[in-house]
This record gives sequence, C-alpha cells and structure tokens, in this order.
Amino acid sequence: MKTKYGNWMPVEYGIAASALAGACLGADIVLRIKERGQDKTILSHCAHAALLTGAAVSAAGAAYCFTAHSKFSYNGDRQLARQVTEGLAQYIDLPNGGLALDVGCGSGALAIECAKRNPSATVLGVDTWGPQYLAYSKKVCERNAEAEGVTNVRFEKGNALHLEYPDETFDAVMSNYVYHNIPSDDRQAILRETLRVLKKGGTFAIHDLMSEKRYGDMELFAQLLRDEGYERVELIDTTDGMFMDRREAAMLMLKGSVLLTGTK
Ligand SMILES: C[S@@+](CC[C@H](N)C(=O)[O-])C[C@H]1O[C@@H](n2cnc3c(N)ncnc32)[C@H](O)[C@@H]1O
Repeated sequence: MKTKYGNWMPVEYGIAASALAGACLGADIVLRIKERGQDKTILSHCAHAALLTGAAVSAAGAAYCFTAHSKFSYNGDRQLARQVTEGLAQYIDLPNGGLALDVGCGSGALAIECAKRNPSATVLGVDTWGPQYLAYSKKVCERNAEAEGVTNVRFEKGNALHLEYPDETFDAVMSNYVYHNIPSDDRQAILRETLRVLKKGGTFAIHDLMSEKRYGDMELFAQLLRDEGYERVELIDTTDGMFMDRREAAMLMLKGSVLLTGTK
C-alpha cells in the first residue's frame, strides 16, 4: 500500500484557473467573430479588455498553482512538504507513554512522522476536514498510517478554534500551515487555544504564515509567553534557508513562514 499525502495546493485549483483562462479567451474569440464587419463600440472595447485581463490573470493563477503543486509534491524533485514535515517533527521529543497533538493534520503527514520518531508515545491528529482540501480526510490519515506501518497514531475530527480537551492534556502540540486558513481577526487567540491544552513543561512547534497582517505582533506575543514563564521561546524565520530561501518563499506565496517553538 502506498501513502497518499495529497498536496497543499490541490491540482484541481490549477485546473479550475486554466479552465477560467480558457473560458475568458473563448468568450473573447466568440465576441470578435460576432463583431466581424461591425464598428466596435466603447462597450465592446471594455468587454474585450475585461475578458483578456481575466484570461491573463487566470493563466497567471494557473501557472502559480501548478508550480506550487509540483514544488510541494511528495513525489516531485523539490518535495518541500516532506522537508517541512520532517524538519518540524525534529522539534517533538515525547516521553515514554506521552501524548502529542497535531492541529489541522490534513492527510496525517506530520502526526505520522512524529509517531514514527516517538514509537513509545502516541500522537493524535485532529482536523475539520472541510471542502477546501478534498483529498484530506480521517480515512486518508488512517490509510497513510497503515501504509507507513505506524500504529501509535490516531485521528479524530477537531476544530483549532475550540479544542475539546481539558487544559494541559498533551506533552507536545504542533501544527503546520493551518491557522492562516482559518478566518479570524485574532490568530493569537488560536495559538492560545493550542497552548491551553499543552502540559506545563511540554513542547510546542507551530509553523505558519505569521505575517503581522495575519497574526499581529508576534514578537510581542513571544515576549508575553516568556513573561508568563514559557521557556526557550523562539520565532524562527523558516524562509531564511531552513526550509526554503526568500526567493522561493515569495514565488510560492509562503512569505512570512515562521516557526514558533518553545516549552510551556
Ligand atoms: C494547508 S493544509 C495543512 C495540512 C497539514 N498540517 C500538513 O502540513 O500537511 C491546512 C489544513 O488545515 C485544516 N483546517 C482548516 N481549518 C481548520 C480548523 N478550524 N481546525 C482544524 N483544522 C483546520 C484543513 O482542513 C487542512 O487540512
């Protein structure tokens, strides 16, 4: 059995953008045929401009989607998703019998990698598994764990906004590229909800697009955690060579990728 970790950029997005570009171009051609031999009105000039702009923007979108899909792919040359997953898992060392939480586990890649690295502990992956990522589901996660021969991982439905676990349940909490997907005007509150379920002394490794616009002042947030007694709190820019360089991050719209890590 083969793993199917899917892709952060579903191929359907590229196909939809290409179809839109084709539709705009097609409509422009049909309009030109209909107008043959007639004087063009201002309205018709505007219609052509709008259709050609639509075609160009959609084609650029499609090019981005296909490039990102290929770079993120688990089977491609770059394998960025695999590198990020394996890189983040290195931050999670669990005690014997320990329990870790992966918030927004998608197809289970990070939870499974952590479970592999910590065979005497258990990792729980939770996700809402909504329509945005059709290739991700609880079943896909379980199938991937089986394909990897990993038995110390389990998956259940769960929402990052309200985790259904008591305070201080987990020995480690982790998440990768999830919270920027959640419509919210307070993503620091989502981080707080994740940290709520972490035991005192437990480790956190949360990687996301943490631009100021999305998250507010993260330096201040990190300082508040330190002031509250959290230790080794770091904000690591992962576009500084750790997972990618700045040029690649900009090209893949991963600018602002930051790892928030430390101990509670
Ligand atoms: C870009 S994918 C990343 C998946 C996985 N963390 C990985 O690294 O492959 C974002 C994931 O966040 C999940 N997600 C979105 N909103 C969520 C929420 N409110 N609670 C939990 N998961 C959520 C999506 O279903 C999707 O699986």
